[in-house]
Amino acid sequence: MPAHENNKVVLLEHPSGSKAEVALFGATLTSWVVDGVERIFVSKQAKRDGSKAIRGGIPLCFPIFGTKEKIALPQHGFARNNYWEYLGIVNDNDEVSVRFGLKDTQIPQEARNAWAHSFRLTYTVSLTAKSIKTFINLKNEDEDTFEFNLLLHTYFSVPDATKAAVEGLTSCEYIDKVQNAAKFTETNDKVTISGEVDRVYKKVQDKVLLEVGNGSSIQIEKSNLKDTVVWNPWIEKAKGMGDFGDEEYKNMICVEVGSVAEWVALGGGQSWTAGQTLTVL
Ligand code: BG6
Repeated sequence: MPAHENNKVVLLEHPSGSKAEVALFGATLTSWVVDGVERIFVSKQAKRDGSKAIRGGIPLCFPIFGTKEKIALPQHGFARNNYWEYLGIVNDNDEVSVRFGLKDTQIPQEARNAWAHSFRLTYTVSLTAKSIKTFINLKNEDEDTFEFNLLLHTYFSVPDATKAAVEGLTSCEYIDKVQNAAKFTETNDKVTISGEVDRVYKKVQDKVLLEVGNGSSIQIEKSNLKDTVVWNPWIEKAKGMGDFGDEEYKNMICVEVGSVAEWVALGGGQSWTAGQTLTVL
């Protein structure tokens, strides 16, 4: 079988040798191996028992990013904190493709009260020899329009964060969360890490490149998403996180595609699809 579920984790295997793993908790992709190399970072201290969002991989932030006044949901919403249903294999020809689902009736009452809308999320993860596609479809099952944010919070594994670089953000306006949400415009050709970085780049072009720092690069191509967040907690924030090793900031960089700077509005009965394709170059 090119994909099977074992102990609440779905394993995908492509004939080329590439592999991926998706935990049903949060539908969090926790591993993506190409050419025998792990491309995704997960903390050694990540909780895997469903008690907390998995620290690493690709958590899905929905229906909010960060926290929002008047919406009593945990940071980054409820999608990463609940078990999704495994809907099975949808393609096993040239790509291995599996699907997961989450709807309002599967989340706790408290979260349903905080964001009182009927919805259905369908998440499709498709693996080829060199790439992985992670696409979400959202159906508004209410009669009225609702508003949401969505973000794919991808943690990439890098040998040395100070040698990694993100290309393709030049000239974008960004909100610097490290500097009290001050606004700046990116002037560098490459965004690098030499301290805490937490920036929401707005209206970003669809293709950006992550130079991993070991000679290889990963193309990050977003689809129907406007923004890109770059995050590394660096020394002090790393020490403050109970599910993250003090030294692990050296081995990760988050490049997160989403629509988070503004709400996305979805009319009653309408569907919306967005996602990313990651390709090892
Ligand atoms: C990033 C945010 O996307 O996620 C940061 O921009 C935040 O501000 C980080 O610290 C991690 O969030 P959490 O809730 O997983 O600790």
